[in-house]
Amino acid sequence: MPESHLVAKTTDIPADEAKRVIIGEHQIALFNLDGEYYATDDICTHAYASLSEGYIEDGCVECPLHAGLFDIKTGKAQGVPVTEDIKTFPVRIEGEDIYVEI
Ligand code: FES
Repeated sequence: MPESHLVAKTTDIPADEAKRVIIGEHQIALFNLDGEYYATDDICTHAYASLSEGYIEDGCVECPLHAGLFDIKTGKAQGVPVTEDIKTFPVRIEGEDIYVEI
């Protein structure tokens, strides 16, 4: 059963930026794409890098280590060097509060 976790305020994440949050043992990247918020695994599926430190463009995040690309909304890996998708998690906004369901 997924649980809702209050993880941040919308004002914590400027447009087209990301923030790393921790929920229990999960490291989550929270993204603001033009005022819409998305949550994915923070750790790249290729090696150990934090996607919240990556470069965001056209709805994708580029991993800071080897430039692997993932679609932020779907988690889909966009091609070599990344072949395994990242997980995505539902996000709910209440006022300025951002909740992630895990
Ligand atoms: S660690 Fe992300 S592309 Fe290699």
